[in-house]
Amino acid sequence: MHILAEFVTSAADASGLPRDGLPEVALVGRSNVGKSTLINGLVRQRIARTSAEPGKTRLANFYRVRRGTAPPMYLVDLPGYGYARRASGTEERGAAAQAFARLTEAYFSRGQTMGTDHRTPAKALGVILLVDSRHPGLDSDVDAWTWLKSSGWPCRVVGTKADKLSRAEYVKHARQLESLFDGPVPLVSAATGEGLEDLWKTIASLPRPTAA
Ligand code: GTP
Ligand code: MG
Repeated sequence: MHILAEFVTSAADASGLPRDGLPEVALVGRSNVGKSTLINGLVRQRIARTSAEPGKTRLANFYRVRRGTAPPMYLVDLPGYGYARRASGTEERGAAAQAFARLTEAYFSRGQTMGTDHRTPAKALGVILLVDSRHPGLDSDVDAWTWLKSSGWPCRVVGTKADKLSRAEYVKHARQLESLFDGPVPLVSAATGEGLEDLWKTIASLPRPTAA
């Protein structure tokens, strides 16, 4: 399948978010869970910057993607949660956390103003919550899932870094994830490509906005 992908813009706050009406799929999850790497895996290009250090992505980055004959959409790489920069002063740490919270809130709260008869923004496709398949059930992930479900955005959960699991862990963790997140949680690996084709199908199955 032919994929065209290009970086379009980075937003630090609500004013920088694109307003061209393209549907969006946002990837959210803890810092270092593999959001940026997964975008690169999905589009088979290194367009998003990744890092072994958590806290790499600080802005909402929008990538315009066309896959085969499907209509164009954005994949959105959001900053991760659960990361406090190793700053000397708590003040700076607090500022980084606040900036993250503001940006994330700006991103998600557009639904309320742009939506039609529903809390979902007219142009949203949805949100994919990424959780590290090696660590099922972290409080921050469960909290994020609870919040997302109540947000009105169509949302799905995916387990990352499946290549790091032993065979025994694979089965055990898949089962744990399934009970924590209300249904089967597909496991993916950007390293081996496992599950990426299915993740595209998941993305395609998200409800299409009725109005452009
Ligand atoms: P922030 O931008 O800090 O929120 O992190 P992120 O979620 O974007 O993580 P990123 O994609 O930068 O990846 C973090 C680290 O995990 C990098 O060292 C990646 O190489 C590694 N990683 C990501 N996906 C996989 C995977 O599928 N398998 C393995 N083995 N490593 C992975
Ligand atoms: Mg990132």
